[in-house]
Amino acid sequence: MAQFPDFVRIVEVGARDGLQNEAAVSTQDKVALINALADAGLKDIEAGAFVSPKWVPQMADSSDVISALNLPNVNLSALTPNLRGAEAAKQVGIQEFAIFTAASEAFCQKNINCSIDESIDRFKDVMDFAKANNIRVRGYVSCVMGCPYQGDVDYNDVLKVSERLLELGCYEISLGDTIGVGTAKKVDELLDLLLQHIDKSKLAVHFHDTYGQALTNIYTALTRGIATVDSAVAGLGGCPYAKGASGNVATEDVVYLLQGLGIEHGIDLERLAKAGWAICSALNKQPVSKVSLALKNTQNN
Ligand code: HMG
Ligand code: MG
Repeated sequence: MAQFPDFVRIVEVGARDGLQNEAAVSTQDKVALINALADAGLKDIEAGAFVSPKWVPQMADSSDVISALNLPNVNLSALTPNLRGAEAAKQVGIQEFAIFTAASEAFCQKNINCSIDESIDRFKDVMDFAKANNIRVRGYVSCVMGCPYQGDVDYNDVLKVSERLLELGCYEISLGDTIGVGTAKKVDELLDLLLQHIDKSKLAVHFHDTYGQALTNIYTALTRGIATVDSAVAGLGGCPYAKGASGNVATEDVVYLLQGLGIEHGIDLERLAKAGWAICSALNKQPVSKVSLALKNTQNN
């Protein structure tokens, strides 16, 4: 029997995961995007990344973007791969850090230039700093359904690294299907294992839509009681260290799915779609969201 949650918390990652892999947009456009997302009712917004600007130049202005925001009712988070990133994020008032590693050694090496063990070691400093400053920390595990370098990933490796991040003090683990190769069956199999060891309230799903399976995979996770879903407005983005990976599932599509299931989400779909159209216009591209395009066509008729 499906045990759908009553409410799903959407973590909007378009301004980070999306824009990190799109053509550069101005700081002003990023600020406008985040304000529009907040206006649409999003309460958890990943607003930037304090990573090396040589590795991900699109995120180099994260401090400027976050400094320009005044959203007291929104939980703004940012990627903080090391203490330096955490310090910079705190400086501009970030109240939630996101640390990120992988279930695949090869991906971890390519993405953050260290082994999984080394990444956890680096995160200890970030966690100590976060605790001292009363900042909560979310943990990402990439490649939970497969790796662009290694291929198949053992679900036991996903479990191991998730448990290590929780032991370190993360309040939640976001399970990244970084290259969007997951299927409903794989999601069920992964959750069969994880839910034996980790409470569902500590798990989120973060699915990229490369093979068009993200919504089906989210539906599968919802049937297992998972109540936090990451998504990116207009389906922006991809991953710079996962060739061919497309953007996250579009937030508009997730909201439409939740509406159809009668699950609360707190988001105004029309305002959300408008936020997506504005950033897509700045990027000179169409939204990668069927719902967004359908709403646009309805408006134009
Ligand atoms: P490193 O080369 O191992 O470490 O980088 P380093 O300490 O030797 O630093 C290298 C250079 O970066 C130095 O500059 C540092 O000063 C600088 P240089 O001397 O060459 O001029 N540096 C920094 N600059 C700004 N802020 C910092 C910082 N730290 C060092 N915090 C590092 C290690 C992690 C920094 C690097 O590998 C990096 O930035 N990687 C980028 C990773 C990234 O952003 N990937 C994309 C996001 S993850 C993702 O998309 C997956 C996710 O969505 C989930 C999913 O879908 O699966 C989360
Ligand atoms: Mg991602």
